[in-house]
Amino acid sequence: MNREDFPLLSEEIIYFDNSATSLKPKCVIDKMNDYYLNYPANAHRGDYDLSYKVDKEYEETRELVRDFIHAEHLEEIVFTSGTTESLNMIADGFFKNLLEENDEVLITTSEHASNVLPWFRLVKTNSIKVNYIPLDSNYYVTVDNVKKAITPNTKVISLAGITNVIGDIRPIKEICKLAHEQNIFVVLDGAQMLPHMNVDVKDLDVDFLAFSAHKMCGPTGVGVLYGKKELLEHLEPITLGGGMNESFDNPLEVYLKELPTRLEAGTRNIAGVIGFGETIKYLNKIGMDKIHKYELDLRKYLIDKLIPLKHIDIINIESDSGIVTFNVANVFSQDVAYFLNKYNICVRAGNHCAKILKSSVGVNNTVRVSLYFYNTYEEIDNLVELLSDYDKIVKEMI
Ligand code: ALA
Repeated sequence: MNREDFPLLSEEIIYFDNSATSLKPKCVIDKMNDYYLNYPANAHRGDYDLSYKVDKEYEETRELVRDFIHAEHLEEIVFTSGTTESLNMIADGFFKNLLEENDEVLITTSEHASNVLPWFRLVKTNSIKVNYIPLDSNYYVTVDNVKKAITPNTKVISLAGITNVIGDIRPIKEICKLAHEQNIFVVLDGAQMLPHMNVDVKDLDVDFLAFSAHKMCGPTGVGVLYGKKELLEHLEPITLGGGMNESFDNPLEVYLKELPTRLEAGTRNIAGVIGFGETIKYLNKIGMDKIHKYELDLRKYLIDKLIPLKHIDIINIESDSGIVTFNVANVFSQDVAYFLNKYNICVRAGNHCAKILKSSVGVNNTVRVSLYFYNTYEEIDNLVELLSDYDKIVKEMI
């Protein structure tokens, strides 16, 4: 659906790498161009009309994001450069000051590097422990397994809402309920979730949420850090500088601004934030529920066509998002990607930054097709036709 909004889709290209980044609709690109061409002033610093317009547009995006994730307060929305920065801020700005020796953070082996490495650093700096919630036979997280993994030392559960290789949707609401009964914080990595389904932070009751604009039709270099206001108040800025301070007469008298400004040091990605506002309006117009349903239908169509192909080993038959991960028998995943590239089909191959998942799945590298609402059944037919011909793949793969 909505293919006409994406200039690239008028060319002979099939884009199936939406979990890496999504295409951008023309309205988002136009919005950013408009900023650069017609009112390219800084935000929150000028006393002239151009800069007032920037402030207005920038803060309008904050309100759009607040509404999009159903947060209660505007101050709970902080603009960052992306999910990675948001997760690092959560770990380093909040939990570093809180966690002590032998405290435990629970993650899984299917987390992306951005939800592993910031916690690994706290193992070094704070002597905490990182433990793994076991995955079931479909590589899913079950509430029961979370229950079993919690110990009296567990302080944080940090999970992707949808993982980037398996594509499973985690039972975040139930996990939050269980965690909060035991005073455990829940951090949600929403990078793969926010682009594809409605997320309500109040209903889920997550403590922190991180996500990126670029995977949901928005610009690169913009992301969001959400935190419950009472928690965010205690998140120490990792970056200090202009815009976020009230005064600094000497090293002992540094006063910072209120939330969210004190977490947004320096000149931000203003064009990106303004473009992100347009992105949210665009997605709202289509409807997140419609997007999610359409992607599930597409996925089912693809899976049903792949299952009969004996040389295709599907890793995540059971998943419930637009991510389909597989290998072709005896062919290196990157060779499959090169082969498909010859026919203008873009997929991702490799470990997809989920480098400890191999310990659960047993394979290091896979081919990943990740769908979005602008993909079509015809595109899937083209992909399947190519994948059906094993001899052709082997002959042409390099
Ligand atoms: N995290 C992105 C992916 O899964 C880059 O491809």
